[in-house]
Amino acid sequence: MGYKVGIVGATGLVGTTFLKVLEERNFPIDELYLFASARSAGKEVEYRGKTYIIEELTENSFDRDMDYALFSAGGSISEKYSPIAARNGVVVIDNSSAFRMDEDVPLVVPEVNPAAAMKHNNIIANPNCSTIQAVVPLKIIDEKWNIKRVVYSTYQAVSGSGLAGIKDLEEGIVGAAPKNYPHPIAYNCLPHIDIFMENGNTREEEKMIGETRKILEKPNLPVSATCVRVPVKHGHSISVNLELEKEFEIEDVREALADAPGVVLMDDVANNVYPMPISAEGKDEVFVGRVRRDESLNSGLNLWIVADNIRKGAATNTVQIAELLIEENKN
Ligand code: A2P
Repeated sequence: MGYKVGIVGATGLVGTTFLKVLEERNFPIDELYLFASARSAGKEVEYRGKTYIIEELTENSFDRDMDYALFSAGGSISEKYSPIAARNGVVVIDNSSAFRMDEDVPLVVPEVNPAAAMKHNNIIANPNCSTIQAVVPLKIIDEKWNIKRVVYSTYQAVSGSGLAGIKDLEEGIVGAAPKNYPHPIAYNCLPHIDIFMENGNTREEEKMIGETRKILEKPNLPVSATCVRVPVKHGHSISVNLELEKEFEIEDVREALADAPGVVLMDDVANNVYPMPISAEGKDEVFVGRVRRDESLNSGLNLWIVADNIRKGAATNTVQIAELLIEENKN
């Protein structure tokens, strides 16, 4: 049996990757509906040898039989159209930040909190790209050694800003002024992702803090984050510093990470082996390396975590959530 699936933002970076991932994973689809803005209406898209026409997203787009809608067209589109879809009985899996911190909306990373996906009111949120790749290995460490404090420093690719981010980098390299970012991203780093909040954090940093607590179900966990945009096209990197409750042996941590679902341990510094954005590009796993003790703390651990932000950080995780739902449907 197949499902009726809609994709909102089907022409975007994440939207087109939804299609790739659905095809690769053989997601059972009977009907496929593709939505974008009026600018794209009428464009043709190929999926599994069949041609589909992009429709303009309107309030009536969900007046039809549809099982799942995968949204990735930005927060304001999600805010307006996800509730309409949900009221029409469509289960929305939303890649924007619009509903992530709502109490009645599950925020799901399938390797970490799959059970949360089963208690939804037709909207399930896909976490922030950096948060997803961080919590996959953190979950295993938390289960074994109980995380006391987290410090994140991110190195985030321009594809996280969609096609506009990639354009700023490509055109900036040949001397054009930036259109998407407030400063050049070519040959530069911007400690500025999303808007600045009153407390001095950016909204991206606040997302990582709040979402980590929600997904790990540790509402009081101290988390600090500095998020930086770097001139890399694909793949976010995160330096993670952890303070753990329990004592650990570094070899036990390596072993736990090597066994963790969705994690690939790449940690052989003698041979210059560690994760990098170029090695994570196009992959669905979370790559972890530079696993070492932080000697400035009693029970401190440093990790370097890299993943493809458009795949595991967005499209793959969203499709994995849909897979959890169809698995549950079978039972
Ligand atoms: P469009 O291509 O028609 O503008 P990205 O962040 O990678 O640039 O992708 C953004 C996605 O969101 C695109 O598919 C884009 O469609 C879609 N989008 C933007 N504005 C709207 C809108 N008003 N209605 C529906 N989709 C939209």
